[in-house]
Amino acid sequence: MTDAIINRRSIRKYTDKPVTEEQVKELLQAASLAPSWTNSQPSRYYVAMGDARDAVAEMLPSFNKTNVENAPVLIVTTVVKGTSGYKKDGSVSTHLGDGFTHFDNGLRVENICLKAVEMGLGTLIMGLYKEAEIREYFEIPDSQEIVCVLAVGYPEIQPEARPRLALDEIAVFKK
Ligand SMILES: Cc1cc2nc3c(=O)[nH]c(=O)nc-3n(C[C@H](O)[C@H](O)[C@H](O)COP(=O)(O)O)c2cc1C
Repeated sequence: MTDAIINRRSIRKYTDKPVTEEQVKELLQAASLAPSWTNSQPSRYYVAMGDARDAVAEMLPSFNKTNVENAPVLIVTTVVKGTSGYKKDGSVSTHLGDGFTHFDNGLRVENICLKAVEMGLGTLIMGLYKEAEIREYFEIPDSQEIVCVLAVGYPEIQPEARPRLALDEIAVFKK
């Protein structure tokens, strides 16, 4: 686990080695094991492989399209609106409103990224994409919000780790 956390990188160069549907299912199973608000499990996945992968790549801005050029799989993650952060009667439970819906999705995406490292795969989370085109292509209903597109493939490179803020800049300890 620690190895996967340390070695995960955003991969922007992939080999053309294929990734199987079984491997993608393994990643999505890992995603499903993540916790969520009252186990509401808000995330949904639209997996593009083969011709569909090429079609979805056209729905990325050119820099993202170039970066994921050989990645054989693109996964669009969405959330079902109004699932996490709510009480049973539909009112919001906390000051974050529906924020936990995206929080829950993020936990799932990170599980995918870490499981991918364990499987020798690399990933790139992309927050920039052509939302309307992706929605139309997969016929994603208005009840779902598109969150990110994830590229999955075999890394051609292992980039240097990007710098992180020091703990004393981000953590407060009170004793
Ligand atoms: C919500 C989110 C959106 C991102 N969107 C993009 C993107 O559109 N294109 C891209 O190249 N990287 C994107 N990234 C990757 C970040 O740039 C990257 O995680 C960060 O620079 C740290 O590098 P590392 O992931 O290698 O540790 C995104 C990451 C997150 C978490």
